[in-house]
Amino acid sequence: MTTTRGLWEREDPITMLTAYDAPTAAIVDEAGIDVVLVGDSMGNAALGYDSTLPVTFDEVAGRTAAVARATEDALVVADMPFLSFGVDEAESVRNAGRLLKEANADAVKIESGPHTVETTRRMTEVGIPVMAHLGLTPQHVNRLGGYTRQGTEQDAAEEIIDLAGAHADAGAFALVLEHVPANLAGAVTEALDVPTIGIGAGPDCDGQVLVINDAVGLGEWSPPFAKRFGDVRGEMVDAVEAYEAAVTSGEFPAEEHSHVEEELGDLY
Ligand code: KIV
Ligand code: NA
Repeated sequence: MTTTRGLWEREDPITMLTAYDAPTAAIVDEAGIDVVLVGDSMGNAALGYDSTLPVTFDEVAGRTAAVARATEDALVVADMPFLSFGVDEAESVRNAGRLLKEANADAVKIESGPHTVETTRRMTEVGIPVMAHLGLTPQHVNRLGGYTRQGTEQDAAEEIIDLAGAHADAGAFALVLEHVPANLAGAVTEALDVPTIGIGAGPDCDGQVLVINDAVGLGEWSPPFAKRFGDVRGEMVDAVEAYEAAVTSGEFPAEEHSHVEEELGDLY
């Protein structure tokens, strides 16, 4: 069983992947991945939205419950979707708690900023482990004007280092660093005791995370910082086309896929 504490003691790099459904979670878990993230990336990766903003609390909760049912060993982290936190402190804590209490998450992840330091402290105090998330925070796409690399200028880089420290002090058990320069991620990792988990953040983090669609090659497109370790899309296209051809040609179902009941008499 992976625990939030256990991540601190890991010698090898921490592995994290997203999953949004039970069969995928089972594969991720059986492969020995440490953390399964029910990311709000489900907006793009599973629900057909073109950003993470429309993703609802209920969508995350339902998918988290499905993932948790199929996961035995990995730590299940539920992403808090846009507006489910950050508007009202009490509501934020209650929503996070519901992801543990009702959806069986082990922890929550929050897109972090100056406004989430106190929230992180409150959640940690009531027993909700918090994974902070700095650098590119996709819920801020409308403010940022795109999914661009963050922390590329001195001031912005120093702000990320400061915010990372503030969230660690507030009790965050781990920190995702998304789409930041490798040397900035390395500096944060060096400066903090809490494990850092990078995506598009270079090799010097304590762990790595990818969106499952990118890792297995399911989507039509992947960001340049991701690596496609498989071609699931190609496999599915081949299988679906083969099914279509087999049905239209009459080749499927064959005798071995059918059952004729000899006991039946004349039916008409
Ligand atoms: O939603 C997500 O999948 C994430 C990861 C990219 C860190 O937040
Ligand atoms: Na996310």
